[in-house]
Amino acid sequence: MTSPFTVEVLVSDTDRLRAAEQDVRRGLAERPRSIPPVWFYDETGSLLFDRITRLPEYYLTRCERAILEARSEEIAAASGADTLVEIGSGTSEKTLLLLDAMADRGSLRHIVLLDISEEILRKAAAELQARYRVEVHAVVGDLRRDLVRLPRPGRQLWAFLGSTIGNFEPASRAELLAQFRRAMGPGDTFLLGTDLRKATDRLLAAYDDAEGVTARFNLNVLEVLDATLGADFDPGRFEHRAVWNPDGGWIEMRLRSKEDQQVKVAALDMVIHLARGEEILTEISTKFQPDAVPAELGRAGLGVRGAWSDDDGDFLLTLAAP
Ligand SMILES: C[S@@+](CC[C@H](N)C(=O)[O-])C[C@H]1O[C@@H](n2cnc3c(N)ncnc32)[C@H](O)[C@@H]1O
Repeated sequence: MTSPFTVEVLVSDTDRLRAAEQDVRRGLAERPRSIPPVWFYDETGSLLFDRITRLPEYYLTRCERAILEARSEEIAAASGADTLVEIGSGTSEKTLLLLDAMADRGSLRHIVLLDISEEILRKAAAELQARYRVEVHAVVGDLRRDLVRLPRPGRQLWAFLGSTIGNFEPASRAELLAQFRRAMGPGDTFLLGTDLRKATDRLLAAYDDAEGVTARFNLNVLEVLDATLGADFDPGRFEHRAVWNPDGGWIEMRLRSKEDQQVKVAALDMVIHLARGEEILTEISTKFQPDAVPAELGRAGLGVRGAWSDDDGDFLLTLAAP
């Protein structure tokens, strides 16, 4: 008998439109102008991100995978979990290492995935269901809002990988970690992937690769806004930039206007004037000091049970519990 495979959509087209309207109205009116990174991830954006994870410059995925290869058994044992809840799951490719370890212990019963990108989520969920033959519940939702709406079978290991936490500024990061804590039960555990501080040239290369895949990923956000809001952004009139912000301790991805231009956003009845050289912030990627991670988790009510780095100390995985 095959186990159930369900997809639940918590973000309707109307929700998506309202959220885009709000984000664009607020973000593009402010200075510096900004667009939240959630708008990168239509199907094209998710496929481009998947390509980024394979680039020679993008060390993050390789390092996190190396830690999971070495430590998944230990993590699975320490968690005692029978359910894996992955947030911002994307392709769930590295997650196979954790799931294999749970399956080898005979403890894997359920998988819950949450991502905003429906196509990639459906594909990942179908692949996991075929591989593990356990109940897979895929949720199309916004992690900033929907953690408490997830199903809660069994004892859960929550995985938030890929340093996605680094895309949040300190105040919203603290709020998000507190939301994780509130959504978790007493026996649950939380596995957090964080990228660590390192030489600026390596960081810049990771966000501005030679092949230009990251540039295409960044520019794709304009196409998403065109499709969602009837805007007329022309990606050819913008260029990708990656900049280290030493005060924040993060890389900023920006889109720079190559010329003076006007962009119309039909759904908002809005015209945006951009001067040549003006920039729109599309993503921050925080690079953590190792001791900042337990401190931030602690403030959210999560105590560290274990922490592991790769051989070069580039990336950190931390297991925590309420
Ligand atoms: C940096 S990627 C990491 C993907 C994967 N976890 C990994 O480690 O390679 C961020 C993932 O989070 C998803 N995502 C981004 N913002 C989101 C949001 N607000 N709600 C739900 N998912 C989101 C994206 O679709 C993408 O799959």
